[in-house]
Amino acid sequence: MATHNHQEHDHEAHGHEHSHEAHGHAEHGQGHDHGGYNANSLHRSDAFYRPVYEEIINWLDVQPGAKVLDAGSGTGIFTELLASAVGDSGSVTALDMSAELLESVRQRLEGSPLAGRVSLQIGDITDVPLGDTEFDLVWTSRTIHHLPDQVAGLRELWRLLKPRHRLALREGGLPSRFLPADPGVGKPGLEDRLQALFQDWFTTHVRSGEGMVPHPYGWTQTLREAGFSNVTAKSFLVEMLPPFNDDQTAYMRGQLARWVDNEERRSMLSRDDAEAIEQLVDPESEHYAFRRVDLHYLEAVTVYVGEA
Ligand SMILES: C[S@@+](CC[C@H](N)C(=O)[O-])C[C@H]1O[C@@H](n2cnc3c(N)ncnc32)[C@H](O)[C@@H]1O
Repeated sequence: MATHNHQEHDHEAHGHEHSHEAHGHAEHGQGHDHGGYNANSLHRSDAFYRPVYEEIINWLDVQPGAKVLDAGSGTGIFTELLASAVGDSGSVTALDMSAELLESVRQRLEGSPLAGRVSLQIGDITDVPLGDTEFDLVWTSRTIHHLPDQVAGLRELWRLLKPRHRLALREGGLPSRFLPADPGVGKPGLEDRLQALFQDWFTTHVRSGEGMVPHPYGWTQTLREAGFSNVTAKSFLVEMLPPFNDDQTAYMRGQLARWVDNEERRSMLSRDDAEAIEQLVDPESEHYAFRRVDLHYLEAVTVYVGEA
């Protein structure tokens, strides 16, 4: 596997004001960790979402031999699935600004026949150290919303695509829920309230900071502004019923626990909701949620597609 080095940036360089500590357990809503880019939490989310990710990559119908970019690869779950889809004659470049996460992509593929199809590229999506029109497909998941200037980032990805070839952007969707409306502890409607708080958190912790360019439009419009045409969207339902395996339980429990494990987040909650969550995530409590047989996990993962 080839590794290229180019301009590694830290979060601060992009106006991200988050600490790793503050974001290590931020999975929620749009289904991910905002800003921490923590390998452990990404691995948890990889295990949880793998079935729907396989469905998405199948749906994309990647052509054998295609040259694909995974922009903001994280720990490389999509890099792996794309490398499998492109076949022996294709290739996938995993681009990320985090050397640590690229190392976890390398480890994921170590010893796999897929490793030979993958190259690792450290760099910034807003200034990618690669030539124009190099790729047949660009995939980017849960990354563009971290950029201070989302349209500029997408324009840069447009530049890398061959004319009339596709960018597939995983953003937006519908937030997850899995508890009954009345979970039997605290006030009913807990997940609705957490969802509203999540939006506040997202605004103040992700879409804020130096250089942040406001872009109050939907993703279809954002793609059009960046130069893409024939923009469409397709959503994939994540639906799970018990019994849950350990990965699924750990992920769902983490979704709730992060609201009380992190002081700043906890301070956003009413005392009643904080106490309810503490019981729901505590295996010793009679209200522990993850032995219940009436949980029902639902979430929509959306992929926007546009042509360069
Ligand atoms: C939330 S993670 C998503 C990882 C993976 N695509 C997924 O969906 O699970 C966001 C990733 O984007 C990377 N990233 C954020 N801003 C970036 C930038 N400006 N250039 C390159 N990578 C960036 C982070 O290092 C992180 O790996």
